Amino acid sequence: MCGIVGYIGNKQAKDVVIKGLKRLEYRGYDSAGVAVINGALSVKKCKGKVSVLEKKLGTSENGNIGIGHTRWATHGEPNDINSHPHTSTTGKLAVVHNGIIENYGALKQKLQKEGYEFYSETDTEIVAKLIENMMDKNPGLDLEDAVRLSLVQINGTYGLAILHEDHPDKIIVARKGSPLLIGVGEGEMLVASDASAVAEYTDKVVYLDDGELAVITKDDYQVLNSHDIELTKEVHELAVSLEEIEKGGYPFFMLKEIFEQPKTVADCLRGRLNVEEGTINLGGLSKVTEELKNAKRIIIAACGTSWHSGLVGEYLFEWLAKIPVEVEYASEFRYKDPILGEGDVVFVISQSGETADTLAAMREAKEKGATTLGIVNVVGSTIARESDGGVYLHAGPEIGVASTKAFTGQVTVLILIALKMAQLRNTITEEKSKRLIKALSEIPEKIAETLKHSDEVKRIADLFTYAPNFLYLGRSYSFPVALEGALKLKEISYIHAEGYPAAEMKHGPIALIDDMMPVVVIAATNHTSDKMVSNIEEVRARKGRIIAVTSPENKEVKELAEFNCTIPETEDELTPLLSVIPLQLLSYYIAVNRGCNVDQPRNLAKSVTVE
Ligand code: AGP
Ligand code: GLU
Repeated sequence: MCGIVGYIGNKQAKDVVIKGLKRLEYRGYDSAGVAVINGALSVKKCKGKVSVLEKKLGTSENGNIGIGHTRWATHGEPNDINSHPHTSTTGKLAVVHNGIIENYGALKQKLQKEGYEFYSETDTEIVAKLIENMMDKNPGLDLEDAVRLSLVQINGTYGLAILHEDHPDKIIVARKGSPLLIGVGEGEMLVASDASAVAEYTDKVVYLDDGELAVITKDDYQVLNSHDIELTKEVHELAVSLEEIEKGGYPFFMLKEIFEQPKTVADCLRGRLNVEEGTINLGGLSKVTEELKNAKRIIIAACGTSWHSGLVGEYLFEWLAKIPVEVEYASEFRYKDPILGEGDVVFVISQSGETADTLAAMREAKEKGATTLGIVNVVGSTIARESDGGVYLHAGPEIGVASTKAFTGQVTVLILIALKMAQLRNTITEEKSKRLIKALSEIPEKIAETLKHSDEVKRIADLFTYAPNFLYLGRSYSFPVALEGALKLKEISYIHAEGYPAAEMKHGPIALIDDMMPVVVIAATNHTSDKMVSNIEEVRARKGRIIAVTSPENKEVKELAEFNCTIPETEDELTPLLSVIPLQLLSYYIAVNRGCNVDQPRNLAKSVTVE
């Protein structure tokens, strides 16, 4: 949700922290702040972007130890006071926090009775005051012990970084439910909620797990579990390059990520397809081959765009591997006391691998004995580490809040898994399997071809920039694409949009259609083509403005539509990988025309690590 960065070493901490916060700003961006120790603790924070904060920093924020935060408000509006860091009454202790302290109300009342005063509306301030209270009551207590003993009283989730003026040689960090890692340098250490903030300084990272606390000094770090026992943690090598987390000449990360898709899908397929032999190799699933072969049911849990790719997965698994599938909103799955039994395989899909709802759904499924498999982009993320197996997207860091290359990566992985399962279960002929594998290997090229038609999409965007509503229609594999197209438009251009199965339109949304209504139809050539043509006619009869996403071969649709976005022909199962591209571009161009901040849309955050 938010971004946390901390630094201890010989450099100016504020420089490292500000740079790191800028890299993490996509995670949350309504306010920002830093705390630095240089003799005394100095805190600067304000509403707005990191660049606003940066201008406020002066020599009083010089120092070699500091922490910083970019916020995505959960408790209390985004303003200067509610921004992090939050401090103790004495102003000696500073805390930055990602997550939600669920029992902050009760704790606050208790401390207020003891005379502690609160200045903000946040849940986070309680953490600073609790630790202060612990230290007040136990003079001489070490900072790490005060933190540990205070955290016992807290219900909820947190990633925390804490500084204290009287302990100027260490940063204390703790994790429960929100990601945190330590960047291990030479004579310097960093902490961050996301690897991109440390990538410039080190490629060695230690991921904290839930319930762990770490004491970080300039030359060392010590990780302790909740029983205060020191742990030996694995040091991972970071694979993120600086180039991947920079815009590379594009005005927005989203556009860069849209245009990266020929490469990211090729990277996703690399080493996994053997076109000649018609085989698929997915190393991350090798331990669960038997479970996949004998699966009786598949459950897919995810949120947002990842949920949409899960819906594509439903069609794929049922069509190719002949297994019944249920696609669940991760947030609902967890709380409905799901019935899971032998033979159930649960896939969780998440770009970040940190989405709180998805993580909770996975843990619930695991606890009930299901095999849990992750389809994740961020290497080393919590879902990737806690699942029984899985497949990475290898799409590289996705920074734009609106997910694009992760969607095509997820669909690619789902096609690979569905094909693999179909082969294992003998539900596909060799001929069909080879044909699909060959077609899949050609997809990166076809995405590149689709992108060449971006001007066509831009012209349509220019015409409909100020449309107040959009309707997206699709059938079969194109139905989830319709949902995804509508979500993209809502997220970044703030236009109300609905995605519907095309035939469902006549059961209600058709009432919305008039001569002002743009209706985007995703019309792949397949067994539903004729029915789709009828649905288009229904819209035309009510003067709706048809924008078709279709191939030149689909002449009937092309002629019926007022506007066309061209995609090449491919196998039916693979069409979402092409048809989603014009929809991503359409939302992008409209958002730019409307002057919206494409990469950081209002009210959103990249990684939703609260429930
Ligand atoms: C997509 O454009 C969204 N910003 C959002 O719906 C996202 O897909 C969702 O929050 C799930 O995130 P995840 O894939 O990282 O779990
Ligand atoms: N719950 C805290 C707040 O609203 C932290 C939010 C965040 O993760 O940015 O201030």
